[in-house]
Amino acid sequence: MKLSKSIILPFLDWVDYRLPVFSYARHNLIDYPTPKNLNYWWNFGSLAGIVLMIMIITGFFLAINYTPHTDYAFSSVEHLMRDVNYGWLLRFMHANGGSMFFILVYIHMFRGLYFGSFKAPRELLWIIGVVIYLAMMGTAFMGYVLPWGQMSYWGATVITSLFSAVPLIGDTIVTWLWGGFVIDNNTLTRFFVGHYLMPMVIFMLVIVHMWALHQHKSNNPLGVDMRTPADSIPFHPYYTIKDMVGMGVFFIVYFGFVFFAPDFFGEPDNYIEANPLVTPPHIVPEWYFLPFYAILRSIDNKLIGVIAMFAGVCILFALPWMDRCRVRSAKFRPIYRQFFWLFFADCILLGYIGAQTAVEPFVTIGRIATAYYFAHFLIICPLICKFERPLVPPESISAGVLKAQKGAE
Ligand code: HEM
Repeated sequence: MKLSKSIILPFLDWVDYRLPVFSYARHNLIDYPTPKNLNYWWNFGSLAGIVLMIMIITGFFLAINYTPHTDYAFSSVEHLMRDVNYGWLLRFMHANGGSMFFILVYIHMFRGLYFGSFKAPRELLWIIGVVIYLAMMGTAFMGYVLPWGQMSYWGATVITSLFSAVPLIGDTIVTWLWGGFVIDNNTLTRFFVGHYLMPMVIFMLVIVHMWALHQHKSNNPLGVDMRTPADSIPFHPYYTIKDMVGMGVFFIVYFGFVFFAPDFFGEPDNYIEANPLVTPPHIVPEWYFLPFYAILRSIDNKLIGVIAMFAGVCILFALPWMDRCRVRSAKFRPIYRQFFWLFFADCILLGYIGAQTAVEPFVTIGRIATAYYFAHFLIICPLICKFERPLVPPESISAGVLKAQKGAE
């Protein structure tokens, strides 16, 4: 106690006066005013942040044991799994961490859709989120190629070849991506470099994401703004504790997969070394790409299919201007709420279709589900906004919380 008063505290003050890291942390992590009614759906952003850190750290240790060369990549991963102390743990944490990351971010995004967190003044926060999502997809795609298994090789072949559909410069883009005229060592090297670099870009984007979040603070289940100090509570200890509860549950699920079903999300074919002469009978991307893969395959024309696939993600950029209803939360939007769940079901259906072989009836179902996906954004959201009569939200967070409490009593 004495030591902290006589030496440590003055030293911290000295640093803080010159570089205010401690006051910044206090302002943004401890005293930070947070709506007092956040529920557990608001845990997923911080959980995604934790998994990002786990991915970067396990990725570093994997990289120091990995050889980015087509002759050695597969065996270097097998060597890591069998001979390196806890190599299997590192690899399973990283591989399953990727799937967990996408599960968390999908929940985080659907939370935003349900409670209208993408609406003014949080449009840029949402847009940065979509950029993060795109960056995550690119990173995951490149990472899946690195073990140089059959699915790595053929997945890379299918996806990179899609760019050849771009008029005039398509073949040039593919040659540039491959670093030659076939998928080979140059391709593997550039994917390794890209996979190592992109998480740093995602990390920077998350910082900007947080910056935008702290500008207008969090939305909340009622979707009304914080107006008085009575509407908020400090982030610490209330939400640090709540985040830790969420982390406990998350780690049980995550390590459940790592220790008891490490290959649950994987493809058995990827335990066979890449062979350009043998095409696997059924090439499927990782589960988190399946809805977009279904969109791609539901259109016969290659170029339009590729455009539709990218449009499926990029349409999210425009969402704040398509759903302009002033009431944010679906709690007060009875019609939007029904369509939200229909849209959710449609995304799951697209995922299911993406995993099937392209035969009837899956092709037709996929086409209908694709049409509905785009109709949700382009037609349904603007129409609901025009015709729905939302309920009146409470005038403040405190009023809403008190009303809910009285109702419960
Ligand atoms: C690396 C991935 C991501 C990380 C680490 C991350 C982190 C966070 C954190 C910590 C919060 C505050 C807590 C919370 O509301 O859950 C947040 C809020 C938010 N994020 Fe993300 N995020 C990520 C990806 C995304 C994506 C992909 C989107 C949308 C496309 C998105 C949209 C939002 C929005 C709209 C909010 C404000 C929510 C509200 O206040 O209700 N984020 N994010």
